[in-house]
Amino acid sequence: MVRPLLKWAGGKRQLLHELISRMPDGFNTYWEPFLGGAALFFNISESDDGHGYVLSDINPTLCLFYQTVRDRTDDLLGYVSSLKYGNSSPDYYEARMRFNILDGKKEPVEKSGLLLYLNRHCFNGLYRVNSKGEFNVPFGSYISPKIPSHEHILAASESLKKAKILNGDFLEVISGAGKGDFVYFDPPYEPISKSSSFTAYSKEGFGRGQQERLSKVMKELDRKGALFMLSNSGNSLLEELYSGFRIIKVEARRSINSNGLGRGSVREIIVTNY
Ligand SMILES: C[S@@+](CC[C@H](N)C(=O)[O-])C[C@H]1O[C@@H](n2cnc3c(N)ncnc32)[C@H](O)[C@@H]1O
Repeated sequence: MVRPLLKWAGGKRQLLHELISRMPDGFNTYWEPFLGGAALFFNISESDDGHGYVLSDINPTLCLFYQTVRDRTDDLLGYVSSLKYGNSSPDYYEARMRFNILDGKKEPVEKSGLLLYLNRHCFNGLYRVNSKGEFNVPFGSYISPKIPSHEHILAASESLKKAKILNGDFLEVISGAGKGDFVYFDPPYEPISKSSSFTAYSKEGFGRGQQERLSKVMKELDRKGALFMLSNSGNSLLEELYSGFRIIKVEARRSINSNGLGRGSVREIIVTNY
């Protein structure tokens, strides 16, 4: 099983067995439009059964990262081996500054290599940007953070070679999914309280309006004959939006929130239309 390369808020490793056991038996193309750390994709793609994969996210740097892991593997491994930044606060902030001035289109290898470094050295593995789009997560002060090994990057690259990787809003990407395809939706969580915002991964956030857009997409997919599974936090608004579909409640350990203190068991829901 290939583990995710990045730590990601809302990462699904804790819930994987619940998700895998509820996947449909057969489908054509697998779609994952809220990709993040891609825990489910990496888990299922290794044992390939020949279907296509379409992966996407609204975060352009994240999509560039996966494309670089897939298409520029050797260059990325070379860059990671020669990385000059260590586990200190001055090194971290220098790397962060460099990351923010780099144009990912022109320097995809350096930008992606730095994302890997920042992801493992920043506070809680968060990805958060300010209003100018600059990555602004502080140093994490971990005792010995580990950047993924070459073997790990190579294994992830092999899996990603099977996939089309797109950057965009879920609504535009998913319009390409059709009858017999399977879509796994893992949208950002609704904030549980005002102080615990799980929606800070993208500049736009993911509030009630977005949740309503998403529920329309789910209905449209259902009408087309596509299969979908969605995971989210359990709350009454969401359960109302997903009513009409099968809602399963599960307990999961959630390990990242905005202040790092809110670890514990929370109720999650898994919604399917099959
Ligand atoms: C909960 S995370 C996904 C976690 C992932 N399943 C994992 O295992 O790590 C949600 C992702 O949705 C993305 N996102 C937020 N708004 C989006 C939108 N409108 N369209 C597509 N992706 C979006 C975020 O960038 C983030 O990567």
